[in-house]
Amino acid sequence: MINLINKIDEEPYVKLYKLYDNALESGQSNVEAMLIASYSNETNEVDARYVNLKFISSDNFIFFSNYKSPKANQFNAHDQISAVMYWNAIDTQIRMKAKIHKVSKEFNNKYFTNRQPEKNAVAISSKQSIEIDSYEKVINNYEKTLETKNLKKCPEYWGGFEFTPYSIEFWQGNEKRINKRELFVKNEGKWVSKFLQP
Ligand SMILES: Cc1cc2nc3c(=O)[nH]c(=O)nc-3n(C[C@H](O)[C@H](O)[C@H](O)COP(=O)(O)O)c2cc1C
Repeated sequence: MINLINKIDEEPYVKLYKLYDNALESGQSNVEAMLIASYSNETNEVDARYVNLKFISSDNFIFFSNYKSPKANQFNAHDQISAVMYWNAIDTQIRMKAKIHKVSKEFNNKYFTNRQPEKNAVAISSKQSIEIDSYEKVINNYEKTLETKNLKKCPEYWGGFEFTPYSIEFWQGNEKRINKRELFVKNEGKWVSKFLQP
């Protein structure tokens, strides 16, 4: 589930809230799954991976990750990202462009304290995306952390990222392939919308 908080009355958001409700009513699984594409200055490559979108607070989209992971390093060096969600239950794609940055420490601490301890043990024990000799060692690290660490204390290497899109495109599939595409772009504080050809 995505937590929709501090809802706003701007056209693309009203549309988004409605689509989210429709997706849930239609039984969409993994409704939180969102692809984040980023750019690596280091390797001159574009990279992408799914994350779980946990909050849409006003016009902020928030997910959580490891602050030393490849994605975090990429965001730090180059803050432009694009994000994509696809809800197959309603055949809808939502495509966004934004600048990304970390959320506040206070927000992380509060969120972390209220998460399941098992999830926190993974966040604490994993040096995300670093090579390890075996999966067994991953499990050992996790179990040791579960027994020995304070699972309420958010480590400084874990937390949220937030972005506020300036471009949001809604793509709605049509059985005759006459797909409906509506693009919202924020221009000097105001959303301008246009339809795009399929
Ligand atoms: C559906 C789905 C949701 C995921 N959610 C998260 C998430 O919220 N945070 C996260 O760090 N990784 C998440 N992952 C794992 C990432 O896709 C990725 O493997 C990991 O973050 C390492 O990425 P990086 O090496 O680019 O930093 C998720 C994977 C899938 C398939």
